[in-house]
Amino acid sequence: MVNIVDSRRRLLTTAGLAGTSLLMGFRAPSLALAAESRKKPGEEKEIGAVEDLMREHGVLRRALLVYIETVPRLRVGQSNLPLEPIARTAKLFRSFGEDYHERKLEEAHIFPVVKRAGGTAAAYVEVLKAQHDRGREVTDYILTVAGKGSIGTGDAEPLARAFESFVLMYQNHTAREDTIVFPAWKDALSERQLREMGDKFEDIEHRTFGKDGFDDAVTQIGEIEQALGLADISQFTAPPPPKA
Ligand SMILES: [Fe+2]
Ligand SMILES: [Fe+2]
Repeated sequence: MVNIVDSRRRLLTTAGLAGTSLLMGFRAPSLALAAESRKKPGEEKEIGAVEDLMREHGVLRRALLVYIETVPRLRVGQSNLPLEPIARTAKLFRSFGEDYHERKLEEAHIFPVVKRAGGTAAAYVEVLKAQHDRGREVTDYILTVAGKGSIGTGDAEPLARAFESFVLMYQNHTAREDTIVFPAWKDALSERQLREMGDKFEDIEHRTFGKDGFDDAVTQIGEIEQALGLADISQFTAPPPPKA
């Protein structure tokens, strides 16, 4: 409840400043507004519900990149492929993706509203739920194989294929949620309901992870990327195209 009061107070303050600038004909208050909206040390800025869901997808996409980068290493039989960061990625996908983002947010709050609203987005709900379930089976498998300590020759190709199909499924899944399902959910709610859902999601996040689950997840995926030599993003800049 404190969150709702706080976010409303911030909105009122912003509206007050905008009103003052109109009355006084100043241009400067736009700078004041910018300063007002800048995060101060220790202050937590309000995150809307849809932004919350989409930035969580960002963490999951980084986990997918870890998986797909591992595939060629599995195929060349790289014996020094560290399994601990892969197991850690699967645990993060389980706790942050499957148990929190999917079960506590999407399946509890997004899918039922979108299904009731009907239309194009509603037709996606069933298959998205089936993909959550299949994803959990694949994560169980990854955790089992990565938990063996080393990749046996018989496990390398099946694990590589599991990563490829999991990544393709989730790239499709998250892209459809971002562009079809979340916009439909937003359309089905009033501004007030949407603000309340943003606060509710924040409460769920705090109850699930104790503090800020998102920041923690970003730190974790960063450490995993570091361990696998994937942290430097410049290595992924595409080479110049061939001469046509
Ligand atoms: Fe989903
Ligand atoms: Fe999602």
